[in-house]
This record gives sequence, C-alpha cells and structure tokens, in this order.
Amino acid sequence: MKVIRSSREMYELSARWKKTAQVISLVPTMGCLHEGHLSLIRHAREVSDKIIVSLFVNPIQFGQNEDFDSYPDQFERDSGLIEAEGSDALFYPPPEEMYTENFQTSVKVKTLSQGMCGIDRPDHFGGVATVVTKLFNITSPDIAVFGKKDFQQLIIIKRLVKDLSYNIEIIGAPIVREKDGLAMSSRNVYLDSAGRKCALCLYQAIQASKKISHSRDELSAEQIIEETKKIVTQAGGQLEYAVVVNEFTLVPDNFVNNNSVLALAVKIGDSVRLIDNSKLRS
Ligand code: PAJ
Repeated sequence: MKVIRSSREMYELSARWKKTAQVISLVPTMGCLHEGHLSLIRHAREVSDKIIVSLFVNPIQFGQNEDFDSYPDQFERDSGLIEAEGSDALFYPPPEEMYTENFQTSVKVKTLSQGMCGIDRPDHFGGVATVVTKLFNITSPDIAVFGKKDFQQLIIIKRLVKDLSYNIEIIGAPIVREKDGLAMSSRNVYLDSAGRKCALCLYQAIQASKKISHSRDELSAEQIIEETKKIVTQAGGQLEYAVVVNEFTLVPDNFVNNNSVLALAVKIGDSVRLIDNSKLRS
C-alpha cells in the first residue's frame, strides 16, 4: 500500500488509475480506526478496483472546546489495519498540505447543517463539507463510502455532491455496533466503566422506539421523543437532542412513517458526546 502525503502525488496516482478505467473508491476517515471504519473499506472493495483511504484529523471541523488536541493519534496501528483490509493507497496529508497559509475558502451546505448536531456545533459541518470537497478534488473517486453512523453528515455529503455536480456515487454503509448494541465510535475510548454503561442508553432508546413504532399504526414523533428522553435521563445521560426526521431530507416528521429516522445525541459525563440513529420501521 502506498502512503501518500502530497496532493500532487495523489492526483497523479488517481489519474494513472483512471487511464486504465479502474473504478476508484474513497473512504475518508480521521483515524483511530475501529470495525465501523474497516467495514467501509470492505464495502469499497466490493464495488471498486482501487481503494484510497484518507486519514486526516481535520482541524476546521472541531469547535473551540472540542477534542481536536486530544484526538487519538494511532498512525502505525491505523495504517496496518488499512493495509490489511486491502487498501491500495493511504492519503495521509500533513495539516499544511490541506490548509495552506491564508486559506479562506469554505463550503457550506446551508439548511441541512443547521439542525441536530449543527445546533451545538455550528461550524462543524462547514468544516466537514470543506475537507470532503478537498478530498474529492485530490483523489477524484468514482465512489465514496460513508457510514450511516454519522447520519446528518451522510445526507449533507449527498446534497453537496448533487449541488456541486460531482460525478461521485455516495454509498451509506450500515452502523457497526458492539455486541451489546453501542455504536462503534472513536470517542468510545474516552468512556470510563460507568460511562460505558450509561452509553448504552442511546441504543436502548432506539430499540424501545422501534418497538413502539412497530406496534402502533399512528404514533406521534413527540411520543418517541418523550420515550427517548425518559430512557436517557434514567440512565444518567444528558440528552442534547432527539429528533424524528425524514431519512432523505432531515425534515422533522410529526408522525412516524416508513421513512422516519430517530436521531439522537447524548452527553455522557462532562465531556463525551455520542450520537446514534436508526430507522424506526425497518
Ligand atoms: P470519522 O469519525 O473517522 O469517521 C469516518 C467514517 O467512518 C464516517 O463515514 C463515519 O460515518 C464512519 N463510521 C464511524 N463509526 C461507524 C460505525 N460504528 N459504523 C459504520 N460507520 C462508521 O466522519 C469523519 O471521520 C469525518 O467527519 C470525515 C468524513 C473523515 C471528514 O473529516
């Protein structure tokens, strides 16, 4: 596997692959990899000839009081895992390669970035959209694979691809969970044992909500949100938001229907913030 640090070298490799009509997939990550990330590489392998994984902890998507400085750096381990999954290239740029001095352009997907995680993280999705645009330009993929774990992010990227006329197919891969249901996340490493127990409340709220959604024909979103609040609060978590929204548009649903997704963010203890989501009727 080639480890590439410069954009120029990455363009050239991608262009060489394109000349022989090879299908290229990109899997963007920030490292600290777990099975969720690796599942994306496996998806990419099924649909492409060449895989590029990017590893870049993107400073502009972190807020001032967020964990950019402490985001775990495990390059040796991560690159070994990426290679073992059969990736052809690892794009691992230094920060100055992505953000040159006097960088001043940004990409914003307006309305979709404002609700849900955008309420407490107002600049987050602008940072994501900007770095993903750069990664698309540098790697020129035919396909890019993202996880449904970051549901709002996935919808924003799909919008960005349409709005900016990229000829890239976006694949949303299923959420990979621990045995007890906790969605895998790089941030789970911050949980102590009490926090780890509490963190289960996201999945419990999802399971309970799915159950009610299946058992009743007419069910208001409000009832799901109340149930979620109750479960999270009883477990000792702090609910940042819980919403029932359309799976394609993120527009809130008043009543649960076949396209409704429950999405939630919970603060565990003082500093760990976890997100999860699921379709309610599937
Ligand atoms: P990161 O948090 O490293 O996640 C990289 C990709 O892995 C994302 O598409 C995310 O949805 C997916 N992922 C994370 N946990 C998952 C799980 N349990 N199951 C399935 N997929 C999972 O998301 C980012 O990085 C960044 O915002 C990025 C897109 C790389 C831009 O900087």
